[in-house]
Amino acid sequence: MNTKHFLTLKDLTSDELKQLLSRATELKEMRNRGEVYEPLANKVMAMIFEKSSTRTRVSFEAGMAQLGGHAMFLSSRDTQLGRGEPVEDSARVISSMVDVVMIRTYSHEIVETFAQHSRVPVINALTDDYHPCQLLADMQTFVEHRGDIKGKTAAWIGDGNNMCQSYMNAAAILDFHLNIACPKGFEPKAELLEEYKDRITLTHSPKEAVKGAHLVTTDVWASMGQEDEQETRLKRFEGFQVTPELMDLADKDALFMHCLPAHRGEEVSEEMMEDPRSVVFDEAENRLHAQKALLEFLLVN
Ligand code: CP
Ligand code: NVA
Repeated sequence: MNTKHFLTLKDLTSDELKQLLSRATELKEMRNRGEVYEPLANKVMAMIFEKSSTRTRVSFEAGMAQLGGHAMFLSSRDTQLGRGEPVEDSARVISSMVDVVMIRTYSHEIVETFAQHSRVPVINALTDDYHPCQLLADMQTFVEHRGDIKGKTAAWIGDGNNMCQSYMNAAAILDFHLNIACPKGFEPKAELLEEYKDRITLTHSPKEAVKGAHLVTTDVWASMGQEDEQETRLKRFEGFQVTPELMDLADKDALFMHCLPAHRGEEVSEEMMEDPRSVVFDEAENRLHAQKALLEFLLVN
């Protein structure tokens, strides 16, 4: 089917992504001025959640309403998906009744299979491998505070997880360098390290990674679905906490980001969250504006 989907950042060209980021800022300004803009009147979005969420649910649901449309929350606990109805069948049924589908789930293959059988756009709202919607907000936030990220350096500190892998995509599309510092055994997937080898520097030293960086970012050490590993990971990630002292080694204008929710005292210190270099709450708010721009891109243009 020839439908546009957003499963990873690679579904956008560099021009499309830049345009979307500047549109996100425009939509933010329109909302701040109190302008009503409802291009999605009568449009419905199904939101399938197989994992918990605060930001993603609130931003998509509020965003759809602000654009004049409607969003429907579907948890796997209450739908037949949770009782084993095949993804293929669910995709055909759900996409016959709505205009766009958002999915947060475990295996990335689930969103790919859903998209293959969907007649409407499918948005990845986090899988075990990628979290592209968060990168829209992160990149919008960087541009709003510091301008173009092209040629700059970002530092990823911690787990080589879904967020890290989406940062790898972003580095290639927006032309910045990514230093990744993770404990041994917690690197991103080998095939991605190979694909992006010219874009990234992999190290096991947070200090080395933040040196000269313009953006420092991290995420929880145990992602959703890894709750059983929490204790072991706490030990393995010792020394990987982002603190003001670590930030002092970065560029003097460096920003700190975290997709949230944060575990203060683990991957980030209490002081770092509240430090003037931290833009984590702008970043969270931008989920709303960036995803409204995404919905407009997928459904209106
Ligand atoms: N950052 C993020 O996706 O947050 P939620 O899990 O609250 O949606
Ligand atoms: N890496 C985290 C991100 C949460 C928004 C997780 O997958 O749980």
